[in-house]
Amino acid sequence: MSNNPSKFVLGSKNLSKNFRVGTEILRVLDSVDLKLEESSSLSIQGDSGCGKTTLLNLLARLETADDGFIYWGDRKIKADQKPHAKESRWRSLHVGVVYQSYYLIPELTVLENVMMSVKLAGLPFGIYEERALSLLKDMGVERKSQQIPSKLSGGERQRVAIARALVNRPRVILADEPTGNLDERTGGEVMELLLHSCWKEQSSLVLVTHNPNFAKATNMVSVLKDGNLMYV
Ligand SMILES: Nc1ncnc2c1ncn2[C@@H]1O[C@H](COP(=O)(O)OP(=O)(O)O)[C@@H](O)[C@H]1O
Ligand SMILES: [Mg+2]
Repeated sequence: MSNNPSKFVLGSKNLSKNFRVGTEILRVLDSVDLKLEESSSLSIQGDSGCGKTTLLNLLARLETADDGFIYWGDRKIKADQKPHAKESRWRSLHVGVVYQSYYLIPELTVLENVMMSVKLAGLPFGIYEERALSLLKDMGVERKSQQIPSKLSGGERQRVAIARALVNRPRVILADEPTGNLDERTGGEVMELLLHSCWKEQSSLVLVTHNPNFAKATNMVSVLKDGNLMYV
């Protein structure tokens, strides 16, 4: 990473995380080193409970680690420190997150949900509203832009969540089992849209999935096992 830092959009060094369960210490992540280049994609598979969500949360700085560093592009962040105030803005510009259960705000319309990312990043509303609508169109849900999420199907909600994750032009998308709540056909459609839109928008992608066919669609394929990533 030190040779050409700008080439990498996301990384970790020595990233470790323990959880205390009763009197036991559970070492969920054990010195994870990760490097993700511009416009590339990495999939992570692994047994339930092996630490995939924990890893994504650490990379997004939504949780603190016990040790190690996170790299957001050239920014080197001590992963065991609580995020400082500026970081949430950096995050909203650098990282987009897609969750299994969408996490749309129920009271807001589809467009307002997407624009919430823009608001958090302090980006200009006018320009980005056009972009939000154009992304919703790419996702095939532009006709739903004034609806509230409860009027949408699961697949449609996830398409909105992908538009929300991409709207600020983040350099990387972290997707945690984004098709986990969808039936096979809808999941396939959503995955195709996610992969295509990341490619089109030149955002790199970290994809946690249980589906080996989706995993194979990324540039790098890994399995998280015994606290570390193994590339397969
Ligand atoms: N806040 C927490 N406190 C204690 N243990 C936790 C906590 N969060 C996760 N864990 C444990 O860490 C392990 C990894 O969890 P997780 O990252 O959610 O796994 P995955 O996403 O791969 O299913 C699991 O054993 C889980 O029970
Ligand atoms: Mg998980």
